[in-house]
Amino acid sequence: MIDFVKLTHLVAAIFWMGGMAFMILALRPVAVKLLEPPEQLQLLGAVWKRFFIVVMVSIVALFASGTNLYTTAFRAIKAATGTGSVPLGWNVMLVLGLLMMLIFGYIYFAGYARFKRAVAAQDWPLAGKAAAQIQTLMLTNFVLGWLSIAAVRLVR
Ligand code: HEM
Repeated sequence: MIDFVKLTHLVAAIFWMGGMAFMILALRPVAVKLLEPPEQLQLLGAVWKRFFIVVMVSIVALFASGTNLYTTAFRAIKAATGTGSVPLGWNVMLVLGLLMMLIFGYIYFAGYARFKRAVAAQDWPLAGKAAAQIQTLMLTNFVLGWLSIAAVRLVR
């Protein structure tokens, strides 16, 4: 069972992190280079619409599997040693993971909503500003994701 939970955690992380890597390193730079703002922003909006559903499913899976892994190990360590001290890297992952989820909530409910309103009104400068903010927050989450993975592997 625990192997299945770990696999779920890994798959969800790969979808979210891999999607962000593709958006940041490939899709957006090419869209900015080849397309004028209206087409560029419409393309990004259509891609986000699909990708954000993937992220939401990943978040549910990461949260459920991550808290399960954490509490299962916490209980086992407590039963074996009397103290419930999990590796520090796990606490770093818990905190950074929750922060990433909050940042995504802000991207989706504030930034993306603003972006969609601006696109609907064909206000391209405003849509461009909202897109830049989404991009910055996505980059922040990308960095936090790698930091949390590094912490869970390297910090004991
Ligand atoms: C509520 C948030 C989270 C919690 C409580 C959590 C908890 C954990 C725990 C306890 C482990 C260690 C499992 C073990 O070695 O037995 C782990 C591993 C891992 N987590 Fe998370 N996690 C969370 C969020 C995330 C997020 C957002 C990502 C992706 C960016 C992520 C990616 C990973 C990866 C890739 C591993 C495997 C590292 C390895 O190979 O040892 N986790 N997580």
